[in-house]
Amino acid sequence: MDNKRIYLAPMVGRTDEHYRAFVRILSKNIYLYTEMITCDSFLHTNRKDYVVKEGEKNLTIQLAGSDPKKYGQCASIIEDQGYDEINLNIGCPSSKVVRGEFGACLMNNPDKVAECVYEIKQSCDLPISIKTRLGLGYEENLDLLFTLINKTKVFGCSKYIIHARNAILNGLSPKKNRKIPLLRYADVTTVKDSFPGLEFYLNGGVEDISEIRKNINKFDGLMIGRRIYDNPMFLNQIEKEIYNNNETLSRQGILKKYLKYALSFQNKNTSNYLLLRHLFSLYYNTSSSKKWKKFLHDIIQSDKDIELITNFEESTYDEEIKAYR
Ligand SMILES: Cc1cc2nc3c(=O)[nH]c(=O)nc-3n(C[C@H](O)[C@H](O)[C@H](O)COP(=O)(O)O)c2cc1C
Repeated sequence: MDNKRIYLAPMVGRTDEHYRAFVRILSKNIYLYTEMITCDSFLHTNRKDYVVKEGEKNLTIQLAGSDPKKYGQCASIIEDQGYDEINLNIGCPSSKVVRGEFGACLMNNPDKVAECVYEIKQSCDLPISIKTRLGLGYEENLDLLFTLINKTKVFGCSKYIIHARNAILNGLSPKKNRKIPLLRYADVTTVKDSFPGLEFYLNGGVEDISEIRKNINKFDGLMIGRRIYDNPMFLNQIEKEIYNNNETLSRQGILKKYLKYALSFQNKNTSNYLLLRHLFSLYYNTSSSKKWKKFLHDIIQSDKDIELITNFEESTYDEEIKAYR
């Protein structure tokens, strides 16, 4: 399993620097992504905000846009910022993204995507990957995806992350587009088998260790999003059961380490909300879950001393009994 990678999926509003720091405490083996950023935003934001922090290794930046030249401009900046890879978002179905003519709708314009890859390749030496879907609409053939791969591999993209369902661009919200239409893992296998020299990663609906075991060896690796966000301790399980890492931390140990990280932001005007909002699910599916959420909520609401997070006492048996009365 050593050469098989598991990526944390890029998630807007979630995979920010604080969440990535939290994830890195839970897992030393997982590969990380930024949130999607459009080329326009990247070119206009403070570049310092996008410099990779010390210790943030194995980090891919995900770009979105439809202007090949702008991809090139971004790439030449990104090269010096410490990222390991540049990923193009050719899978987002949101109406805003469609209006901007980027994301999944670019599956209909593979020549444009190929030009974007070309411009990135001209501007930097970082590896390039594409995250995309099996196709568009309800048609279950792979023609669009095959064309996209054939056109982009020529210019140096050798790695594809496939969300194993089509994108529906009219009428379905991004949320529904992560459940509908059905997943088709077998079709991702077909694609992988058709391009032996390229890397393929399966994404979509991977929920437990048995699913990881069942699929990881069929591909170069997997990408997982919601299951990890909804249950961070799933990362602990991945470390132990997939990567044979026996040095994982308890929840209290994780909080202690995260506090150390959070304290380094104390003088930087970063709110407790931004620092703590990704920790709500730490006690997911345990008897302490409700108590933890309330405890964390209080610290955020009152902007109390952030050091309090390590004072949390997990539910006792007596408390559990009381809760059922
Ligand atoms: C809140 C949220 C935000 C997302 N933002 C992005 C994004 O910025 N870029 C992207 O390529 N996919 C994005 N996705 C899709 C995920 O990367 C992933 O493809 C999808 O959730 C399916 O994987 P999963 O079933 O393991 O969650 C987002 C998903 C969620 C839930």
